[in-house]
Amino acid sequence: MRAMVVQEFGGSPEPAEMPVPAAGPGRIQIHLEAAGVNPYDRKVVDGMLRDRMPFDFPMIPGTDGAGIVTAVGEGVTDFAVGDRVVGKAVAAPLGHGTFAEYTAIPADSTVAKLPDIVGSIQAAALPTAGLAAQDLLDAAALVPSQVVLINGASGGVGSFLVQLAAAAEVQVIVTARPDDADRMIRLGADEVIDYTRGPVADQVRAGHPGGVDVLFDLIAPAETFAELIPLVRPGGTAYSTTFAADEATLHDHGLKGGNLTSTGAAPELRRLLQRVAEGDLVVPIDATRPLTDAAQALSATGARGKTVLVI
Ligand SMILES: NC(=O)c1ccc[n+]([C@@H]2O[C@H](COP(=O)([O-])OP(=O)(O)OC[C@H]3O[C@@H](n4cnc5c(N)ncnc54)[C@H](OP(=O)(O)O)[C@@H]3O)[C@@H](O)[C@H]2O)c1
Repeated sequence: MRAMVVQEFGGSPEPAEMPVPAAGPGRIQIHLEAAGVNPYDRKVVDGMLRDRMPFDFPMIPGTDGAGIVTAVGEGVTDFAVGDRVVGKAVAAPLGHGTFAEYTAIPADSTVAKLPDIVGSIQAAALPTAGLAAQDLLDAAALVPSQVVLINGASGGVGSFLVQLAAAAEVQVIVTARPDDADRMIRLGADEVIDYTRGPVADQVRAGHPGGVDVLFDLIAPAETFAELIPLVRPGGTAYSTTFAADEATLHDHGLKGGNLTSTGAAPELRRLLQRVAEGDLVVPIDATRPLTDAAQALSATGARGKTVLVI
């Protein structure tokens, strides 16, 4: 099969012919039509998990993918050949990802059938970023009319999170560059702060002297996250998806939250797909590119939603 592979940690994906993975017991084989691109994929290629999980090389990167089930292994009852599905390829050993014509993943992992109305490109953009956004929403248990700040809202997670927060009837403040302000407003933001104009904390405080109830931070390193913490009212909530939160500092400020590790699995993926199918959630696709552009897609910055590789 056609695939993109890296030969070592830190490598750049290159086209290669690889064997088609068999379904195997408990697994489904998926003929992939599209693969979503996430910052996580680059981090895995660069070796973030090298001491925590086994890997196979040549490594096929890619976590998110959508396509058609072409074989089911022994013991699989929830899926059948011909099902249209979307899922995450995260089972050990890593290195058998979605930047390829086929993948084979456990049927009881984060995988779900697609509603007829959801296309495979849309679906492939959903799992990692959409689940992280939905997990943040679930964790924060927003209450209508709260003031919520989303730092780093232009990318994959943020473009889902803005919509989900707006649907929860809170006041949504986002940080983004000016070129993305209109799109942020269309997705549901009430206010867009241009983070290139000066410190975000100062700009937010100027417009909201009472601070915010909830901070979702999708971009800041620890030092910047710490600068934003005093904006959050005591009793409020602050989450980081980049592991920038110091839980002791949050506790000292009387805040809940911390570093969020997305745990959304198949039931949560089905919930997200339902929202997309019902038109409550737009899948924010920035660009589609051919599979052979995987290297450029993985190293690109300045996301405006999601990039999807078409296979
Ligand atoms: N913990 C978890 O379970 C989990 C799950 C999913 C994702 N994540 C992590 O969460 C982070 C965000 O993911 P993502 O998929 O949304 O990434 P992404 O698609 O790359 O988006 C990041 C966005 O931040 C913007 N940005 C860069 N510098 C900024 C700044 N100083 N202030 C405000 N915005 C800035 C970028 O655009 P401009 O540079 O043009 O502004 C880009 O649009 C990544 O580190 C990812 O690995 C963690």
